[in-house]
Amino acid sequence: MAVLNGPNLNLLGQREPEVYGHTTLSDIEGRVRAEASKLQCSISWSQSNHEGALVDAIQQLRGRADGLILNGAAYTHTSLAIRDALLAVRVPFVEVHLSNILAREPRRRESLFADLAIGVITGFGAQGYVLALQALHTHLHELRPPA
Ligand code: DQA
Repeated sequence: MAVLNGPNLNLLGQREPEVYGHTTLSDIEGRVRAEASKLQCSISWSQSNHEGALVDAIQQLRGRADGLILNGAAYTHTSLAIRDALLAVRVPFVEVHLSNILAREPRRRESLFADLAIGVITGFGAQGYVLALQALHTHLHELRPPA
């Protein structure tokens, strides 16, 4: 499975701690990797501040990852290009946000990806990534009907 993190998430821990908490992105990665080893699945982890790099990363998932956990950060609310990449590749994904985007400013309440996702986990901080991994794993291994 792949985990993709969008812009400014590299600054977690220092960035608006009253909104995003004190946990760093590498702490979150450690928690996700620990859960992945319990679930016996392998994880690729990346972060980019650049829209095109995120589009490239999604395109490269085809045939390489069975699922995606995506925190598109601010691009969630703006990027048709990332939406188009998700539509092109059609990898099953869970959208994650640390903060509850539905309780924030109106422009953050809209996601250009959510209707394409299996589901959205928003507002549980770092734990949201672990919940997303568990949910994606269950979806892929237990809930999905055989092809
Ligand atoms: C975020 C929410 C976005 O609105 C914001 O632009 C982010 C982080 C979150 O994880 O809560 O950068 O995706």
